Amino acid sequence: MVLDIRFTDKPLGHAIHNVDLRKLDESTFKEIDAAYKQYGVIVIRDQTLSPDDQLAFSRRFGSLDRFVFDRFNMKTHPEIFIVSNILENGAPIGMEDAGRYWHSDMWYVQKPPRGSFLYAVEVPHDGVRPLGDTCFTSTQFAYETLPEELKREAENRSAIFSSRKYGEYVGHTEEKAKDNVYLKDVVAARQKIKDNVIEHPLVRVHPVTGKKCLHIVEGVISEVIGLSQADSDQLISALLAHTLRPEVVYRHQWRVGDIVMWDNYSALHQANGDFRLPQRRLMHRTTLSAPVSA
Ligand code: SIN
Repeated sequence: MVLDIRFTDKPLGHAIHNVDLRKLDESTFKEIDAAYKQYGVIVIRDQTLSPDDQLAFSRRFGSLDRFVFDRFNMKTHPEIFIVSNILENGAPIGMEDAGRYWHSDMWYVQKPPRGSFLYAVEVPHDGVRPLGDTCFTSTQFAYETLPEELKREAENRSAIFSSRKYGEYVGHTEEKAKDNVYLKDVVAARQKIKDNVIEHPLVRVHPVTGKKCLHIVEGVISEVIGLSQADSDQLISALLAHTLRPEVVYRHQWRVGDIVMWDNYSALHQANGDFRLPQRRLMHRTTLSAPVSA
């Protein structure tokens, strides 16, 4: 079967139509796998996936990681991380404000996962259009199109990624958590992460495709090793500005039944928080482990 792919005008975010992931033969699976490797972020429309279906599809790509904050993992299917603003008996059923900054998932662990598959169960709407879009940009394309001088600056350098800096950046501080049950959970979970700071290269070679990709995250990098604070801040700002140029960012407007598969090494993403209850958002995320070679 030849996949029905509808291309965007960006390097990533192309949409596959007319497949049913519950009944995927091996050759169609291989085509999806090839598209995932080639484009880094692909959208698959019009799915009806139970948690078991999503897990079975995800496992075809490799083993899965549990999200580090167990509090937000589905009790019956702990490899599904719930992203949601819905409250049940006054308590959040998922993480409400996951990923509202440009990031790759779980940058705070030594071996971040290879990718994430996010399935839309409920999408908020304001009566005119869907809300809670997710934006994506390619860090492979960003690397390949960097001006030579910046490329040289970034190559062979490592940076410190700091959980504390992140907490301050997104407002998840102990002070703010005092009166907020939700934040208390998030801050407590974050404190359990052993690696409060972690060193990553600024350019990483994708362990599956062999392509070089920028490795940066917004609001998290406290220092590029070997540079003064001013030079370090300037370099990170320049790399981010290049990666986030509006003309290369794909903005995904969700429909119920979409599953978006992103590659965590060749792309960054950012969730938008432009909705409030009673506008409900419910997403199920599976997280693909790093390959052994990573
Ligand atoms: C995430 O970063 O995993 C969440 C993305 C989203 O909710 O759109």
